[in-house]
Amino acid sequence: MYNVAVVGATGAVGQKMIEVLTEYEFPINELMLYASARSAGKTVTVNGQDVVIRELSDAIYADPIDIALFSAGGSISEQYAPRLSEQGVIVIDNSSAFRMQADIPLIVPEVNRVELSPDKPLIANPNCSTIQSVVALAPLAEVYGLTRVAYTSYQAVSGSGQKGIEDLERGARGEEPQNYPYPIYDNVLPHIDVFLENGYTKEEQKMIDETRKILNAPNLGVTATCVRVPVRNSHAVSITVTLDREATLAEVKAVLSDAPGVVLMDNPGELVYPTPLDANGTDDVYIGRVRVDESQPNTFHLWCVADNVRKGAAANAVQIAQCMIGQTATK
Ligand SMILES: NC(=O)c1ccc[n+]([C@@H]2O[C@H](COP(=O)([O-])OP(=O)(O)OC[C@H]3O[C@@H](n4cnc5c(N)ncnc54)[C@H](OP(=O)(O)O)[C@@H]3O)[C@@H](O)[C@H]2O)c1
Repeated sequence: MYNVAVVGATGAVGQKMIEVLTEYEFPINELMLYASARSAGKTVTVNGQDVVIRELSDAIYADPIDIALFSAGGSISEQYAPRLSEQGVIVIDNSSAFRMQADIPLIVPEVNRVELSPDKPLIANPNCSTIQSVVALAPLAEVYGLTRVAYTSYQAVSGSGQKGIEDLERGARGEEPQNYPYPIYDNVLPHIDVFLENGYTKEEQKMIDETRKILNAPNLGVTATCVRVPVRNSHAVSITVTLDREATLAEVKAVLSDAPGVVLMDNPGELVYPTPLDANGTDDVYIGRVRVDESQPNTFHLWCVADNVRKGAAANAVQIAQCMIGQTATK
């Protein structure tokens, strides 16, 4: 049994982490919940027991934590995660602070759990859109090799945390947004995270860089356009993938239907394809609309949908924790 800490326990991801830990029956001795001074002293009921939220401070270093799940933003992770992991705590960090550091594993259990090691207790949880995309791409990479990947994402407002959900609700009431620069209600924003000098957004660059790192393919051609849509929860990603060698549509579908973590929902004749409502509340990655791109050789289109707060964040983090303690990752 383990003492498990959730840092950012009152946030969209933190609350879901608590839910998933309970649902997966993670072997918890004591659950310790941390947030800002704003939430300190409030109680959360977990498995019928009241747990008091603690204010995050240096006092955390003296708490008897075995595993810490961080989800309170990059600067909080930078401040606390390295020292905790140096003390021997297994730290799984949901922010982007450490993802691209060469010595820090960036893990999606279905894809690269073999990179986990007891010697590397600080582990990064990837970007939400990237997690679901690599679950779909890894089996194709293994069988055929990948030449190029082009993503267009359709990302839900829950990906921005509580403030994103509130902006969608504000818009529905006819009020002005407070989080996004323009209304998200009744609108679509081709802008997630800050713009970089190369014209991409940081979210797009994360998808590019993290895909290469997780698939261990530093030279893979990857491009991305990330779009915020007025959907409460679950991201969709349109993926165009060029394989290194020829494959038939039936072969590609067979590889995907056997892939761990993937549910193939693909029968256009019966109007079967995944939507965000299908993915909500689940930890699978749903693939549909698989078809040949008739404009380019060895190229296929996939439509990929997953719950961004569960598989894209909380569930993936808990699955990493399961791998670290030697349990089979639960889905
Ligand atoms: N939403 C997603 O789909 C998603 C996916 C992948 C990664 N992430 C990442 O996960 C992190 C959290 O995202 P979220 O969506 O859960 O955000 P959120 O709903 O805004 O929650 C933020 C959490 O951080 C806590 N926090 C903020 N400032 C703090 C401080 N100074 N000290 C201690 N705790 C503090 C908040 O506590 P209070 O309630 O006390 O303010 C709250 O618990 C971010 O790094 C985000 O990029 C999110």
